[in-house]
Amino acid sequence: MPCGLGYRRSTIDNGMKSTKGTWRAKLGTATVLPNPLREGMRIRRTPEPCAMVIFGASGDLTARMLMPALYHLARERMLPPGFSVLGCSRSKYTDEEFRGKVRAGLKEHAKISNQDSPVLDSFLSNLYYQQVESHGAQAYGELAARLSKLDRECGTAGNRVYYVATPPSSFPVIAQELGKAGLARPENAEQKWARIVIEKPFGHDLPSARELNRVVTGVFGEQNVYRIDHYLGKETVQNLLVFRFANGIFEPIWNRRYIDHVQITVAEDLGVEGRASYFEEAGLLRDMIQSHVLQVLSLVTMEAPARFDARALRDEKTKVMRCFRPITADQAEHYTVRGQYIAGFVGGQRVEAYRSEPGVNPASVTETYAALKIYVDNWRWADVPFYIRSGKRLAKKTTEISIQFRRVPHLLFGQQGTDHIEPDLLSVQIQPDEGISLRFCAKYPGTIMQIRPVKMQFQYGESFGAEPPSAYETLLLDCMLGDNSLFTRNDSVELSWEFVDPILAHWKDAARKGLAFYEAGTWGPAEADALIERDGRRWHRL
Ligand code: BG6
Repeated sequence: MPCGLGYRRSTIDNGMKSTKGTWRAKLGTATVLPNPLREGMRIRRTPEPCAMVIFGASGDLTARMLMPALYHLARERMLPPGFSVLGCSRSKYTDEEFRGKVRAGLKEHAKISNQDSPVLDSFLSNLYYQQVESHGAQAYGELAARLSKLDRECGTAGNRVYYVATPPSSFPVIAQELGKAGLARPENAEQKWARIVIEKPFGHDLPSARELNRVVTGVFGEQNVYRIDHYLGKETVQNLLVFRFANGIFEPIWNRRYIDHVQITVAEDLGVEGRASYFEEAGLLRDMIQSHVLQVLSLVTMEAPARFDARALRDEKTKVMRCFRPITADQAEHYTVRGQYIAGFVGGQRVEAYRSEPGVNPASVTETYAALKIYVDNWRWADVPFYIRSGKRLAKKTTEISIQFRRVPHLLFGQQGTDHIEPDLLSVQIQPDEGISLRFCAKYPGTIMQIRPVKMQFQYGESFGAEPPSAYETLLLDCMLGDNSLFTRNDSVELSWEFVDPILAHWKDAARKGLAFYEAGTWGPAEADALIERDGRRWHRL
């Protein structure tokens, strides 16, 4: 079968801004768009031909996330005509065996209908496999030869994306070996490119993140390093920027004069799901807060960038991260809570305690929950607390940002009937049921003055109809397009480690003392309630 997907690309998107912040139109409906909210469509750029080399191709991430994302892009005709994937790992497969494995994975993890067979077959025919048993000159020489062959046969034009989906210990060695084999900087760099995508965790503390940055940028150059944080690829997270900066009415009140406090909750009902060995080492603070939650916080708090381009956007994110007030070791007791789940019920099912999960040390002090109070020391946010919490085995899966406005300065209506007056609340629901709602007060109908909270609501599904692309679809496509706006820059990664390192150090010192326990299926430990209640506030019910 010939290489390349052989589709004419005619995809479009709702061009509110560059290639971002949009529900992408479904294939084949490019010109039929009854929904007025989708007016203003424009052509999306096509990536240049390229080969994507996936290290860790036999692993879980490849099966669950990368292949479904690439397949969906193929189905939506967003991949370039000259495109192939070269899977690499220690396992031995022929190309055909690898295709069979990917086909089985797609059936489980991708949206495939009966009509999709031709696209699926065509997609699979562009997958190849190369065993890389050990890192060394011979293996990488063979890889180089295979890539040249793909260039000739599949028209991948010498452009490369190296996706490193391996355990973190292999990140630096893969980058170095690619460099030594001459695969990191194409000879004709004017016309060809080589980019490397690195999965999280990017380091496990500040020194290791610095070292990894040094090695990887030394080989590829910062502009070709794509550090992935899949939260930044979520439509609703990108929409935060559109919401803040494409509307005139929110930005003027997006500051300490009007906002009382902000809550960010990233809750999961799942436990560690077979990743105990990784999680035991990492813990919740590293796994979720150092990366996803601090990135989201930076989007909520940053200033408007001068332009919508990668540099300006990432400059602003970095600038605000420099204002996150450090939580020093002696403040950690007061500003942070860490917890671990004990047995309980999630969705009516009994689940084991973290310490009883396979692969977890029965005396483990690894946190599966963290709550923090953070201040952002700048003119916009001085004295506004940001309460953030994240945990495994909580009551349900939900990610929400709640912006609570200040109470009215004076109650006009006396005490009668006004006991329900709640401050206005803007909730940005990142997942699931993506949407935004504003809670405000209204008069309850009747002859007496009664005030009740009501909601104005926007839901993506209802307004736009189409399914959003997955975060990985967006990010893989952006990488092929050379747009690194939604990837984390070296300074931002280092700043986030700078922020969490002192907390981790304190938690390590006081390992047993400070760990609070919570029943699986609840909203976390009582100590986390105390953290916010001390300030006369409470967690919003989600
Ligand atoms: C990953 C973490 O980065 O994000 C996982 O390593 C976590 O532990 C996952 O479960 C959550 O992602 P999402 O998109 O399901 O919220």
